[in-house]
Amino acid sequence: MQLLIATHNEHKKEEIRQILGKNFVVKSLTDYGIFDEIAENGKTFKENAEIKAKYCFEKTGIPSLGDDSGLAVEALNGKPGIFSARYADDHDFVKNIEKVLDEMKSIENRKAYFITVLCYYDESGAKFFEGKVHGNLLTENKGFKGFGYDPIFVPDGYEKTFAEMPSEEKNQISHRKKAIEKFLEFLEK
Ligand code: IMP
Repeated sequence: MQLLIATHNEHKKEEIRQILGKNFVVKSLTDYGIFDEIAENGKTFKENAEIKAKYCFEKTGIPSLGDDSGLAVEALNGKPGIFSARYADDHDFVKNIEKVLDEMKSIENRKAYFITVLCYYDESGAKFFEGKVHGNLLTENKGFKGFGYDPIFVPDGYEKTFAEMPSEEKNQISHRKKAIEKFLEFLEK
């Protein structure tokens, strides 16, 4: 099955490709020579995922997957949430982590979760799939793998951050993996 992933982020495409496995031909917007920036102006993860998937399907006619993800910190009332990518500065992972750690200074409750909402869009419209992974935030960075908030997030049941795990290990337990599993179950029905 051919799937268009509504992203320019090759890292994300690669994670999704690894999780989906061999039965899928996964392409990103860049692979199709589409360089448009899609305005993610929804108020929820769900709205943003749909905006991206719908845009791609309408532009290409290829079944499309939009994903919107982020980090929700309990003590910060769910922030950075939908603003995860641009919490301090647009896609500046270093500054974004610094801002979260700064706001979490002297806060004992370190609970947080990553969430992914996937929207699959084809000629029958939109379908949604959600995945979450719960864990705790460190007070400083550990590890260099992955992206985003990976260096400060330790998933429940582990003693290392996502950034210290090989991608295969992260992809076994991640929010993205859980959402994609639900999507695969839907396709099998
Ligand atoms: P996106 O919607 O998947 O592009 O994610 C938005 C932002 O959430 C990213 O720029 C990251 O800061 C953060 N994020 C989402 N997924 C992950 C992850 O697996 N690890 C670390 N940060 C993530």
